[in-house]
Amino acid sequence: MLEIAASIAAAADPIDAGLQRVDALIRERLASRVALIDQISRYIIGAGGKRIRPRLVLLFAEAMGFEGQERYELAAIVEFIHTATLLHDDVVDESALRRGRATANAIFGNAASVLVGDFLYSRAFQMMVSVNSMRVLEVLADATNVIAEGEVLQLMNMHDPDISVEDYLRVIRYKTAKLFEASARLGAVLGGADRPLEEACAEFGRSLGTAFQLVDDLLDYEGHTDELGKNVGDDLREGKPTLPLLLAMERAAEDDRVLIRRAIEHGENEKLPEILALVRRTGALDATRAAATREADKARALLGALPPSRARDALLELCVRSVHRSS
Ligand code: IPE
Ligand code: IPE
Ligand code: MG
Ligand code: MG
Repeated sequence: MLEIAASIAAAADPIDAGLQRVDALIRERLASRVALIDQISRYIIGAGGKRIRPRLVLLFAEAMGFEGQERYELAAIVEFIHTATLLHDDVVDESALRRGRATANAIFGNAASVLVGDFLYSRAFQMMVSVNSMRVLEVLADATNVIAEGEVLQLMNMHDPDISVEDYLRVIRYKTAKLFEASARLGAVLGGADRPLEEACAEFGRSLGTAFQLVDDLLDYEGHTDELGKNVGDDLREGKPTLPLLLAMERAAEDDRVLIRRAIEHGENEKLPEILALVRRTGALDATRAAATREADKARALLGALPPSRARDALLELCVRSVHRSS
């Protein structure tokens, strides 16, 4: 896991020092008078994580030639929002492992996790106010709202084998790609990009975020728990209709299709190995990887809107590594 985490970090070398500033700021801004808040927020943030969203803010700001301090504040803010979604998501998904550690809900309970997630969201909004830009507030308020819609949409899709690929894509654009989009857009906004350039940056974030979640859903089938730092196989156990299962259903013979439908409807644990084999055999995993590659390629092409720079090279590298990752 360390090796891969390091390789994703290598994609963003130019901003390594900046990321250390962001981490220091994160620690500073976590402060609360309430001991349990401090304990839980430091527990999850201290476990690490790839810090991809703060990287996007810093890299786009650098690509635009922006050097103001606000870039650190905004990078910390997107990581706070991300962390809040993780605290809530692990409660909703009943997950036990995150970033190689027992989840906060497993250790401190669901109530504490939800409430500390709320603390992180509201702290992020306090920090936004300090940036004193209505546009920044608008971008982040919209993103936070859409992420919540995505998680609720996904809840409505649980155990439903009849959702379409478009329904699935809408969920991942909302729950994951939206914050990637906001992070990239914020870098552009800081740098004073004109509207078409800002939109190209935002679209880059949207495509990269979509590729990232497609790979995440793939890794739930073919990844390794020790590398991922999360338990693999949870999506199937939970009856979550992600792209690997939707494509396997499309491609499977009638009997096998019924088997997968039942697994989504009831989360049939005893059939897991059989379904895993099916997902592999039908080529659904390869097709999911191909979909992720297409999205990442779209993102790469959008980088043509930026002038050549170290930051642009690092963004390009991030596209490659986000698809070819195991953690
Ligand atoms: C996890 O995001 C949630 C998804 C959108 C798949 P990351 O994989 O970026 O999580 P950390 O921050 O590196 O732990
Ligand atoms: C994560 O979705 C997206 C958000 C946290 C909003 P998942 O449930 O698919 O991600 P993991 O696998 O728990 O990280
Ligand atoms: Mg989850
Ligand atoms: Mg989830």
